[in-house]
Amino acid sequence: MRHGRFEESMSTLLRDYGESVSFDWRLYRHDIRGSIAHARALQKAGFLTQDEFASIEVGLNTIGEEIAAGKFTFSTDLEDIHMNIEKELTNRIGDAGAKLHTSRSRNDQVATDLRLYLRDEIVALQSGVRALQSSLVDLAHANEDVLFPGYTHLQRAQPIPLAHHLLAYVEMFDRDYGRLGDVALRMDELPLGSGALAASTLVLDRDAIAKELGFSRVTQNSLDGVSDRDFALELLSALAIVGMHLSRLSEDVVLWTTAEFGFACLSDRHSTGSSLMPQKKNPDIAELTRGKTGRLYGNLFRLLTVLKGLPMAYNRDLQEDKEAVFDSVDTALMALAVTAEMMRALVIKREVATKAASDPALLATDLADELVRRNIPFRTAHDLIGKLAAESSKTGIPLNQLPEDLIRELCPQLLIDWKSIFDPIRSLKARAAIGGPSPANVSKRLAHWKKLLG
Ligand code: ARG
Repeated sequence: MRHGRFEESMSTLLRDYGESVSFDWRLYRHDIRGSIAHARALQKAGFLTQDEFASIEVGLNTIGEEIAAGKFTFSTDLEDIHMNIEKELTNRIGDAGAKLHTSRSRNDQVATDLRLYLRDEIVALQSGVRALQSSLVDLAHANEDVLFPGYTHLQRAQPIPLAHHLLAYVEMFDRDYGRLGDVALRMDELPLGSGALAASTLVLDRDAIAKELGFSRVTQNSLDGVSDRDFALELLSALAIVGMHLSRLSEDVVLWTTAEFGFACLSDRHSTGSSLMPQKKNPDIAELTRGKTGRLYGNLFRLLTVLKGLPMAYNRDLQEDKEAVFDSVDTALMALAVTAEMMRALVIKREVATKAASDPALLATDLADELVRRNIPFRTAHDLIGKLAAESSKTGIPLNQLPEDLIRELCPQLLIDWKSIFDPIRSLKARAAIGGPSPANVSKRLAHWKKLLG
């Protein structure tokens, strides 16, 4: 590449500073696929003979097999995966190889490779999300009858089925699945043919290349095609949200496995010990996911920052896109798989959870609702039951065992049949609005997910 314009060879410092092959070698499969489609278009346009195309195709496929087998030696002198492959091809097949880069720039080449790579990874990420959803649905199903205290402000609030809590995450991860699909749809455009910035005087059939590579459309502006990375940002953003959901679930597991909560127990396989304290069983697995969310957020900000001041069109800053993208894809894939495995093996301590959910105070709202049924305005009812709750908390007498005299004095409207209200199952059955935690709703939603997730 330097032979024409330069007399001196590149500083070794700049070589080491600028090389990307140490990480972008991962694009080799996509680079080769893109090059074969490009070569076919060159042949159809008359820039390559049939034989030249055939030797390019065989040569590239052979190089691909060697890279896959770990038998290819990359050179940082050749900067990136694109130059490494092209140079090796030319070494092997001569002039036909030297014709491959006709009507192409690495700028449209790398933008194409990255899209091809991300398209494959999105499929893998989506199946990772589905596997995690399945593990949550199975855990919910196995514990469908377990009551759980629902929280607001991390204070016990109202009883819910544990399954309802777990299915909340299934809904969240379903939106993540959808977001990943949206990213793939918008990214589904071929930039190849944009050249360095202004396409080429040697015009190829871009639609045919797009078709061969499985893109639905071609980009409509060559400057845009080589210089934007919004599709990568969208993916990093979707993965940051996946990370946020994984982190919340992890935080639940950390809390549930404490002595203070005691609602769940990690399997030994997913627990760590302490180098000093022999009794410890730690949830490092969930903490790591909570921590790795920092990478997913960081990579989004990293690329946003790389892009924000770039003058039109391609700038070398764009090489900094790849490590952020690779790291987020790798991190998210691992975190999804680890979390699915951890949730599958999580043991729910049914009695502890049910006991915590059976505190009569958690049904104070149900008492107020009952007063509403007896024609008392809700605000008044809230006040009256609040007084009973304060009394219960002051005296230590559970809400359902307060003396009848006191009820008669503070809230006479409640007196008839009030003890039967303190039945959490009855309470849950009544919470039948769409999306509410009634057992019928929950089992319907469970069935929906089981069917969808197969
Ligand atoms: N390694 C470069 C990248 O990742 C490839 C494109 C180089 N283009 C250039 N004009 N220097 O972005």
